Amino acid sequence: MTQADLSTHWAGVSLSSCIVNASGAWCSTFAELMDLTESTSGAVLTKSATLYPRKGNLEPRYFQWTYGSINSMGLPNLGIDFYLDFIRSQGAKKPIFLSLAAMNPEELSKLLQRLRKLDFPVVTELNLSCPNLIGKPQLAYDFSCVEEILKKVFDFYEFPLGVKLPPYFDTIHFEEMAELLNCFPLKFVTCINSPGNALFVDPQTESVVIKPKEGFGGIGGPCIKPIALANVNKFFKLLKSDIQLIGCGGVSSGQDIFEHILCGASLVQVGTQLMKEGPGVFERLQEELCVILDRKSYTSIEEFRGKLKSLG
Ligand code: DHB
Repeated sequence: MTQADLSTHWAGVSLSSCIVNASGAWCSTFAELMDLTESTSGAVLTKSATLYPRKGNLEPRYFQWTYGSINSMGLPNLGIDFYLDFIRSQGAKKPIFLSLAAMNPEELSKLLQRLRKLDFPVVTELNLSCPNLIGKPQLAYDFSCVEEILKKVFDFYEFPLGVKLPPYFDTIHFEEMAELLNCFPLKFVTCINSPGNALFVDPQTESVVIKPKEGFGGIGGPCIKPIALANVNKFFKLLKSDIQLIGCGGVSSGQDIFEHILCGASLVQVGTQLMKEGPGVFERLQEELCVILDRKSYTSIEEFRGKLKSLG
């Protein structure tokens, strides 16, 4: 078997593999980040960092079943300074990217000012879609708010930046959001964050399975794949060609990754399956993807990326 080339680039950085962790999965603590650094993932993406450390919501706050996971973590993280120190300490071993989340525009501005002062550019995924902040809406469902935030950000910020979006379900929403994003020098858009405020019911105990928000939380895993693929493909078609698509949602096999790339993703993130299987997942997924590419005689992901066919 020849070994297909799974390399890609993300915001101008070359990666040996197009498979990485999703922010939030196995990337909060020093030990978890080291595990990812030592794994075969193409890069490491941190947990969404806030200005100060946060404990997050009450436990239990994560639950998984055969077809997915539900969580209401509430942004537990060690704070921006910890993640920047980690990135600095690792040097050039493997690309490490930062995910950022802010509770308000002032906090976002302070976070970005911190990044601007660094003597190295950090590629950043700005999370506009955390569904689990008690009393706060998901930012990216408020289009004028997104526009206002991006205007403020790109007024002064010049390091590579992308945004992580929640899923959209309506053609008009895809079109309006894409039109808005096309006005800014974004390097990438990540589709999708967990569909928010879902509910898993345990019929045995007649109860919800996580404590915060009376059991409501963001869902991930196999049950969200069709929603993720739809968002990747829609935005791939609607965004200007210099904004890369990063696929996230429902990836637990090499075939899932193949489908994301066919829909237009340059890079694919793994969340629920990484939590289930641990960082060894990257090696398995790479092998499975290589087998598919080999069978189809593709030698690189660029040969089929975005080439999903329609019927007639
Ligand atoms: C959390 C969940 C998300 O889906 C996200 O994008 C960021 C944070 C959380 O609850 O910690």
